[in-house]
Amino acid sequence: MSRLHHFSLLIVTLALSFQLFCDGKVMMEYIGATGAPVEFDDVPVDANIDFHFILGFTIDADSSGAPQNGNGVFSPYWAATLTPDAVAATKSRHPNVKALASLSGWSLAGKTLSWYNPPDANIWISNAYSSLKSLILTYHLDGIDVDYEKFPANSNSSFAYCIGELITLLKNQSLISVATIAPFYNTVSPYVELYESYVEVIDYVNYQFYTDKVKSPEAYLEAFRNRTEQFDRGKVLPSYEVNGRGIQGDAFFEALRLVEDDGFDVNGAMIFSADASASNGYYYEIKTQEFLLSNSTS
Ligand SMILES: *[C@@H]1O[C@H](CO)[C@@H](O)[C@H](O)[C@H]1NC(C)=O
Ligand SMILES: *[C@@H]1O[C@H](CO)[C@@H](O)[C@H](O)[C@H]1NC(C)=O
Ligand SMILES: *[C@@H]1O[C@H](CO)[C@@H](O)[C@H](O)[C@H]1NC(C)=O
Repeated sequence: MSRLHHFSLLIVTLALSFQLFCDGKVMMEYIGATGAPVEFDDVPVDANIDFHFILGFTIDADSSGAPQNGNGVFSPYWAATLTPDAVAATKSRHPNVKALASLSGWSLAGKTLSWYNPPDANIWISNAYSSLKSLILTYHLDGIDVDYEKFPANSNSSFAYCIGELITLLKNQSLISVATIAPFYNTVSPYVELYESYVEVIDYVNYQFYTDKVKSPEAYLEAFRNRTEQFDRGKVLPSYEVNGRGIQGDAFFEALRLVEDDGFDVNGAMIFSADASASNGYYYEIKTQEFLLSNSTS
């Protein structure tokens, strides 16, 4: 066998074992939204999981929470501990870590944030693209998460168009490899519109199940079934809010088992957030990753 053959065999073997070990399991972890001095290194990361830190948040508003004339210029507002060097360091320590910037979130400086219909959608897209490009390059990011949580009453299709085109452009220019969206019960319809028009560039749906106020595993399963009818079943991730709303404690893991027994493949999960988990030793992050690895079927 030639050297070249040996080499290709090695590559194939490596690729297969990576596939085997990583098994396509993904973890989404929001971090940095509360302003607490949270560190990537404190969060337990299993080497066999495609682990995504979602930095909260980058916002198209000034530091007082006022929209920048609807112009789509994004600035980072996550915890000051999450520096470009910190992202680079955690990614070099864990080759399976990716970092995403989440767009908008709920509020800034006490002001509730909202999507708005930009006066010129193409200017919004162009400004969002260039400000995010600079953020992505500076912070060594791999993707974006979309978390607008409020919409104007006269919301036309500007959200679906602007965000869909933005993701398409960022992916086309290979600035990002992953894009996720984070609807909750009250924002399903603009996100369904976005999802249906741009499904091919949206990798996962970080649906906020904790906003559905389901407390029992059985109700969680029903909510999961419902939401996978609105978004694809393969892309919707079950989610958990630490010290938060919805299902709490080990009932979450019972819910995951029910979801799986119902025929869904639980290949990932989202947790909000690392900021809150620091107080309990990252119990839910550890247990969720164990769950994902223990249920490997492929
Ligand atoms: C949405 O409304 C704004 C004005 O509020 C308008 O400029 C824009 O073209 C509309 N967008 C779509 C996609 O209809
Ligand atoms: C980017 O878009 C151009 C024009 O549509 C297309 O030819 C090209 O293949 C795209 N590249 C990627 C990486 O998607
Ligand atoms: C699921 O959808 C059904 C039918 O629309 C609805 O009656 C039920 O309340 C929903 N359950 C949950 C937990 O969302």
